[in-house]
Parts: sequence; structure tokens; C-alpha cells
Amino acid sequence: MGNLQTVGVVGGSGQLGGAIARAWLRSGSVAPEQLWISNRSGTAIGFEEWDGIKFTTCNQDLVDACQIILLSVPPHLAQTLDINAKDRLVMSVMAGISINLIREQTQATRIVRAMSNPAADIGLAYSPWCAGTDVTDEDRGSVQFLFEACGETDEVPNEEQIDRFTALTGPVPGFVAFYADCMVQYAVKHGIDVTVANRAVRKLFQASGNVLAASPTPPAEHVRDMIAYAGTTAAGLEAMKDSALTDNIEQGLDAAYAKTLSIAQSR
Ligand SMILES: NC(=O)c1ccc[n+]([C@@H]2O[C@H](COP(=O)([O-])OP(=O)(O)OC[C@H]3O[C@@H](n4cnc5c(N)ncnc54)[C@H](OP(=O)(O)O)[C@@H]3O)[C@@H](O)[C@H]2O)c1
Repeated sequence: MGNLQTVGVVGGSGQLGGAIARAWLRSGSVAPEQLWISNRSGTAIGFEEWDGIKFTTCNQDLVDACQIILLSVPPHLAQTLDINAKDRLVMSVMAGISINLIREQTQATRIVRAMSNPAADIGLAYSPWCAGTDVTDEDRGSVQFLFEACGETDEVPNEEQIDRFTALTGPVPGFVAFYADCMVQYAVKHGIDVTVANRAVRKLFQASGNVLAASPTPPAEHVRDMIAYAGTTAAGLEAMKDSALTDNIEQGLDAAYAKTLSIAQSR
């Protein structure tokens, strides 16, 4: 980082912590010498291409050496962190673990709760975050900078929205894979070879993702345009809109949101 802050990822060898740390290194946002990673096993797998990163099995050593700490351990292990991070900026991507719980667990007062996903490894994560009361403008700048290196990011007003995003954008490919599989199953049911169907649908989702991401047009406008075109897709979209599909998607996302809330309650 520009002002030479040192950043530590507790759980940085995990799926998400590793993806975020590599995004920082690849983008040059954090130099290897500015990065600490801790875990219990001592593994450094996933970081072979960089020299200079400090690895430790002592979370407190990482905290003592770093100005910014990212917590990325599984939610049920949050109580095993065993750190005092008072006077540090603490960021967390742990699903369902509230700012209050993070404060109890770390003694930190400057806390940012975020959601992200492992697409950070390819610079394509969406990482919304919300700030606790003592977070400064300078902290906000650092958080924005670090999550921009992983893809796109927004500050959102409250933790309830982070819990919603845990359902919406935490999983990759998540719910999109389910829709893609429905299309594969439809193709196979109608005699298309399963390998061909999988290849076709994967390419369709790659192209659709690129189109949706590249154009400023929101998804709803794409749908409106296709319905206005009144072709074969319009017939399909009208049938889907008349079905229970929208309600079913809402039901699925509600279930994921409820599960996120239950993580905190089960502790
Ligand atoms: N993966 C996803 O798609 C995703 C998406 C959104 C949010 N998240 C959130 O991201 C967090 C991490 O998930 P993950 O999928 O990356 O998990 P993971 O792959 O299981 O990685 C967990 C990491 O935490 C380390 N760890 C566990 N306990 C520790 C402790 N007490 N001190 C230091 N390190 C410890 C593990 O290493 P050792 O076993 O060596 O200790 C490992 O590096 C979770 O809270 C999850 O809710 C994940």
C-alpha cells in the first residue's frame, strides 16, 4: 500500500483469505514484504510465486506486526482467534459474525465487516463492506483500496445488508450454477449429449456474464428489451414471469439469509 501499511490475513491460506491475499499481491496493492499470513497448520501453499511474505502460526504475532488485519477463518472457529487487536483496523469476511462479536473476540474498536468471494483470485469478486462506529475516513480509504484490488466494492450502510450479500454474492458460482444446471438438464432431457450441453451452457454463462458486467444496462432492462423484441426468448420470459420462478428464487435467497443469521445465534 502507498503509505507502507502492513496487512495481515488470519486464515490467509484458506479459500477466501488466500484468494484475497493473492489479489493484493498480483495487483501490486500490497507488496510481499507488507503481507503477513497466519494459520494453525503453518502451511504456505498457494503463495509459492512470492518471496518475502511472513507466515506464522501465532495470530498475535501477526496482529502486533500489522496495522490492518483481515479475519478469514470459518465462522465456527472465530472464538479460537485468541488475539488482542486494540488500536488496529480489523476487517472481517466471516459469514454471520457481527461487529459486536468481532469486538468481543479481538478488543478492536475500528471494525469493518465485509463479504467477498473466492473470485478475488481472478480479480472478479464483489466485496460490499460496512463500517463500525470508530472507523476513520483514512480506514475507509484503505478498505476501499484493498477490496478494489479484488474486483468491485461498495460501502453499504449496515450489517443487515452484509448478511443479505452473504446470500446473494458470497457464493460463486453459487445460485448461478443451479440455474445453469437447470438448463443443462433441460438440454439432456431433450436428447442433447451431456458433454455438449455442459459445454454450451458454460459458454452461455461466460458470454452472458461478460455482457451483463460490461454494459451499464441493468439486468431488468435486458429483460425488457428481449420481451420488446418479441422473439422466441420473449415467449420464454413471459412464461417464466407468469410462473412461480421469481418467488422460488426469493425463497432460496431467504433460506440462505436465515442460515447466515443462524451462524451468529448458534455461537
Ligand atoms: N469460501 C467461500 O466461498 C466464502 C465466501 C464468502 C465468505 N466466506 C467466509 O470466509 C471465511 C473463510 O472461509 P474459507 O472458505 O476460506 O475457509 P477455509 O478454506 O476452510 O480456510 C480457513 C482458514 O482459516 C485458517 N484457520 C482456522 N482456524 C484458525 C485460527 N484459529 N487461527 C488462524 N487460522 C485459522 C485455516 O488454516 P489452518 O487450518 O491451517 O488453521 C485456513 O487457512 C469464512 O468465515 C466464510 O464464512 C467464504
